[in-house]
Amino acid sequence: MLVLGIESSCDETGVALVEFEAASTTPPRLLADALHSQISMHQAYGGVVPELASRDHIRRVLPLTREVLAKSGRPLTEIDLIAYTQGPGLAGALLVGAGVAASLAAALDRPSLAVHHLEGHLLSPFLSADPPEFPFVALLVSGGHSQLMRVDAVGSYELLGETIDDAAGEAFDKSAKLLGLPYPGGPHLAKLAEQGNPEAFALPRPLLHSGKPDFSFAGLKTAVLTQVKKLGEAPSEQQKADLAASTQAAIVESLLKKSLLALKETGLKRLVVAGGVGANKSLREQLNAACAKRGVRVHYPELNLCTDNGAMIAMAAALRLQRGMGKPLPAGSGFEVRPRWALDAVN
Ligand code: KG4
Ligand code: ZN
Repeated sequence: MLVLGIESSCDETGVALVEFEAASTTPPRLLADALHSQISMHQAYGGVVPELASRDHIRRVLPLTREVLAKSGRPLTEIDLIAYTQGPGLAGALLVGAGVAASLAAALDRPSLAVHHLEGHLLSPFLSADPPEFPFVALLVSGGHSQLMRVDAVGSYELLGETIDDAAGEAFDKSAKLLGLPYPGGPHLAKLAEQGNPEAFALPRPLLHSGKPDFSFAGLKTAVLTQVKKLGEAPSEQQKADLAASTQAAIVESLLKKSLLALKETGLKRLVVAGGVGANKSLREQLNAACAKRGVRVHYPELNLCTDNGAMIAMAAALRLQRGMGKPLPAGSGFEVRPRWALDAVN
């Protein structure tokens, strides 16, 4: 079976083709994927402009689909199902992917399947050479979400804890902006942090001792703003690097401590890290070291599949279909999007 996956929830247009055997436990295989990032377009505005994002998805999605088909050597007519991101995300951006998926499904007389964006992130390590086994604790850290989940199987997600305010990626991005770094700030702040001292500034780690696997990052940006103001008009490169390193250390410590707490509470010995912030080197190093000490195995998606992509959407659809889960809609059924959609609602 061939499934085409389309991702358009935010500022990346992703398309991918995954092949799988129905009613089998053989892992699905990624045949080809293609991605267009809108980062350079939004950079001038310091963040994603939703209307520009939607229009660009319209421009990119069909050329990317053609690219994926050409790379895989498979014709459009061989596709058995079209999967697309239904939410959460920007409404207009989601409508583009969903509309194209429903139209392709109608034209080819094939079913379509709506996929939850975060389920895509969560299952993206199944695209790696060393896929995890169930059950596991998942740390889901992206621009819009910071959650710890207990995952017992595909479609069995229990929320253990989440952020009460900003997401981890948002904390990276907002702090980076205060430091004058380009959007999206996460990777830029991480790079600058490599030259800095993580103990130079004492920044808050709210809820660190709450005893629950929850997070709070909103206070961090206020603290960073205070430090930026104190540094004045022309901070030195070293001061900026020190503040970047201290900010990263505060975010990483919260993510690390709460992941360890979730592992302890559940008694599980496997951790899956997914979402854009999962690409952070310092987070990976610290999780790897702490988990190795505790006999916990950590799984990550391939670096290029940490941020948004079509492969994770096609993969999530394939894993669901293999298990007889998910509700593919027949061709011509229309479509809807869910800009706000909790992951545990898909169980
Ligand atoms: O999962 P993702 O691509 O999109 C959402 O669904 O939100 O995550 C994007 C987020 C952004 O906040 C970005 O700054 C952050 O992931 N990010 C990073 C790194 N790479 C991406 N944050 C810290 N360090 C990185 N290396
Ligand atoms: Zn995402």
